[in-house]
Amino acid sequence: MNRTVVVLAAGQGTRMKSPLAKVLHPILGRPMLAHLLESLSALGADRTVVVVGHQADAVSAVARTFGAEVVHQEPQLGTGHALMCCRDVLGSSGHILLVAGDVPLLPVDEVGHFWAEFESSGARAGVVSLHIERPFGYGRILRDAGGNLTRIVEERDASAEERAIREVNSGVYFLDASHVMAHLDGLGRGNVQGEYYLTDVFARMATGGSPARLFTASQPDHWLGVNSQADLARTTRRLRREVVDRWMAQGITFPDPDTVWVEPAVLLEPGVVVQPHVRLCGATRLTACCEVRSFSVLHSTYLGPGTLVKEHCVMEGTRTGSECILGPFCHTREGTELGDRLHLGNFVETKKAHLKDGVKANHLSYLGDASVGAGSNIGAGTITCNYDGVHKHRTSLGERVFVGSDTQLVAPVAVGDGAYIGAGTTVTKDVPPGALAISRSPQKNIEGWVAKKKERESRGAGEPGNSRSQGKK
Ligand code: UD1
Ligand code: CA
Repeated sequence: MNRTVVVLAAGQGTRMKSPLAKVLHPILGRPMLAHLLESLSALGADRTVVVVGHQADAVSAVARTFGAEVVHQEPQLGTGHALMCCRDVLGSSGHILLVAGDVPLLPVDEVGHFWAEFESSGARAGVVSLHIERPFGYGRILRDAGGNLTRIVEERDASAEERAIREVNSGVYFLDASHVMAHLDGLGRGNVQGEYYLTDVFARMATGGSPARLFTASQPDHWLGVNSQADLARTTRRLRREVVDRWMAQGITFPDPDTVWVEPAVLLEPGVVVQPHVRLCGATRLTACCEVRSFSVLHSTYLGPGTLVKEHCVMEGTRTGSECILGPFCHTREGTELGDRLHLGNFVETKKAHLKDGVKANHLSYLGDASVGAGSNIGAGTITCNYDGVHKHRTSLGERVFVGSDTQLVAPVAVGDGAYIGAGTTVTKDVPPGALAISRSPQKNIEGWVAKKKERESRGAGEPGNSRSQGKK
């Protein structure tokens, strides 16, 4: 039998009270819908169809990265209407797994078991139900004396008695297309929300003598969707903890696992230590024995073996060699490539910078569009002036260059191997290898100047507004 997964993702998610469509809200760095589609792919269905409506372009883009087909639902007239919109694409044969797009951490293993059970049962439809303590907001499952599903009643349409029922509809269904499509035509909108409820299909099937089969989830918490910001935060916390627990089981040290954030695509190698309050994002990889200390954030960054990132560093699109020491307070931006045993200290910013083995830039510098040869030393307050207001230009320093403090390198400019640059120099011309470049204005000492100044001041004392120390020099 042909198997299709249908994901309903056209709603705005008004209860999120957010301008972003619900299924696009990120969980650990990727949209909710992406988490769901990735885990559903393990079921090996023949096709996946995603129903889009609100922010259709952005939702479709996520769907297509997982090879899903897209169906537009415009306007959004309810979950039953969403399935009606799929009718042409689905045809009238095959088995459908229908899920809401707002259940990012759906336990797909159990979904697979239920699907197999459904297929061998010969039933026309199946509904996964959950027994939960606080059923608020969910459709309640009504059974007859024989335990068969008679009806699903939405919270807003339910009587007080029905609201007391704690068995609810998970929003995950197994459908035999040939049977269900026929029932869609009979759906009406005579309910509090004025919508076509997919759930009404099951009442029609019960009346027609073929009630949907109920499957009871073993861990109901895992099937709960995201309907509010609080749900989103809870779901994020759960996944965050799962990821960290998995890494701890593989020997990674997290002295305080409750405070760290490790996104799912991150890779960690043995001996890595991740201190409290660290965020590791995107395709970050920490190789053997690296340590990242508190309040540092790494985005798609590769750390070579034994590298130490001290407190409060921000690293983006950076690659380091082995045994580097960075921070505290470093900002390495896109295109930073560092050699081995390199030191970057407080308030050093790099961008598109290739710094070779053993380079030291320990304080207060900006190195942008620059290459620096092995063993060079960058003094405090060194700035590459890479931008002329229109274009970016490169600075190139050779090996073992000594750059004195407070140097400006006005790009494009090149400094040869072994050259020295005196403190306070503005380098505007290339410096040959082994040369000293210095552009400071000569210093002048005026003997006895302080005593004379004080004398002048004491003469002028008492006359308001006559003080020369008020910045009137
Ligand atoms: C739905 C069920 C409810 C169940 C709950 C489980 C109905 C009528 N009710 O309620 O019984 O307990 O899910 O989570 O089905 N969507 C569309 N097009 C629409 C409307 C919704 O694609 O026109 C999508 C939404 O984007 C969402 C999903 O369908 O991903 C569910 O919609 P939502 O509004 O969250 O339904 P619930 O009120 O939670
Ligand atoms: Ca929902």
